[in-house]
Amino acid sequence: MTDYVRLPGLRCVRYEVALNGWRILKHTVNDFSLWRLIEYPWVTKQLQLKPGDLVFDIGTGTSSYPHMLAREGVNVVVLELEHERVRWQQQKYDTKGRRGDGMVYPVVADATALPLPDGTVQHISAISSLEHIPDDHAVGHEIGRVLAENGIVIITIPYTRSERTHFFEAIKPFRQVERNAFVQEGKLGSFFRFYNDQDIIETYVEPAHAQVTAWRGFGRRVLNGMYHETRCNRYWRRWVLKDWLLAQIVHPLEERFGTATEPLYVMFKMEPCLKDQGL
Ligand SMILES: C[S@@+](CC[C@H](N)C(=O)[O-])C[C@H]1O[C@@H](n2cnc3c(N)ncnc32)[C@H](O)[C@@H]1O
Repeated sequence: MTDYVRLPGLRCVRYEVALNGWRILKHTVNDFSLWRLIEYPWVTKQLQLKPGDLVFDIGTGTSSYPHMLAREGVNVVVLELEHERVRWQQQKYDTKGRRGDGMVYPVVADATALPLPDGTVQHISAISSLEHIPDDHAVGHEIGRVLAENGIVIITIPYTRSERTHFFEAIKPFRQVERNAFVQEGKLGSFFRFYNDQDIIETYVEPAHAQVTAWRGFGRRVLNGMYHETRCNRYWRRWVLKDWLLAQIVHPLEERFGTATEPLYVMFKMEPCLKDQGL
């Protein structure tokens, strides 16, 4: 049996401390919080990585995820639109990269026009990033275009079963601009979209001629309804170890016993259909 790279939650916390300092335990410096402690372990497992593999991470922002993978010997291309964030990633790698780590290659790139040849990419991740891109159909097309025949794509995005007419109520004033899509008042680049099953199929699965081979929700009645979408979210960026506990204990229970309630996010794995399946 192949030993694939794993990133359990506690190791993510340890790496986050190594990369951004002890202060992150008290208050996070980027989006490293409950959702990432659920996403990074699952995404890493599903990518089926071995040391030396190369992952293309779309919309990385100032996430530590590429550096965490690099510490496991995996190489990562950061594909990020904002120059400042790409510079931040380069600096992080220059100051925190260690001998023997995988490489991190930060690149300014627009996911709607990926600077990559057709059919060449083996591993793609997009963690809570595609919902911020208004032309998501172009992104879906690009992912399908660059994906290798036996490639793997892991996407995590906000989810809704019905039409969503409000943004996270306790969070910020957002205005609806399209079906299930919102922008923050007075702020450029704050686009945010929720996806239903049909949107996911049309936007990402069909253009990649892929099938969904793994799927998991997160953020249901407890983690979302009692925490994230409530006033309790003032603790969202504080005390990271409580989020580690929630991810370790409450998240698996919600996914085991609470699946009748809607998840706020879904994570799924896509793999191209074999040609002789005619899909
Ligand atoms: C919420 S952040 C990503 C979080 C990150 N993946 C993590 O693991 O914490 C979304 C990122 O997507 C980037 N982005 C937005 N539009 C993009 C585009 N068209 N192409 C590439 N990146 C884009 C934004 O600049 C931002 O840094």
